[in-house]
Amino acid sequence: MNKIETYQSLLPQIESLVSGETDAIANRANVAAALHEAFGFWWTGFYRVEGQQLVLGPFQGPVACTRIPYGKGVCGTAWQRAETVIVPNVHKFPGHITCSSASNSEIVVPILHDGQVVAVLDIDSTDFNAFDETDQLYLEKIARMLK
Ligand code: SME
Repeated sequence: MNKIETYQSLLPQIESLVSGETDAIANRANVAAALHEAFGFWWTGFYRVEGQQLVLGPFQGPVACTRIPYGKGVCGTAWQRAETVIVPNVHKFPGHITCSSASNSEIVVPILHDGQVVAVLDIDSTDFNAFDETDQLYLEKIARMLK
């Protein structure tokens, strides 16, 4: 399966997983697992907004930084802009927060509730340039299912 086909088969599975459950942590945990398994990313997980920081949530992959300030790193930037940030080469992103030296590219998708960012979905790859508009399109659809 190519990337689009993988997302298209994943989308209804994720929809059925999250539609019957109201608990945000449970849903984020299953979404992280489903995406991680399907694509074999390096790190797949969530940070939730807690005051002026992002705090680590459910994830799959190696241990990660627990707190990220507003506007810092790729995650804090996506939160500040309230929009998806795609970074083809993390080593060239000013202020990138290195949780793992194996990560080379990253996408961060905000999760909005009533127009406010409540969390971000962060995915890291060991490949350079792993993420594009296709990932953005489908991951934003998944983000909208989460709230
Ligand atoms: N690289 C991220 C930090 C989180 S880890 O990649 C899991 C950033 O710059 O925000």
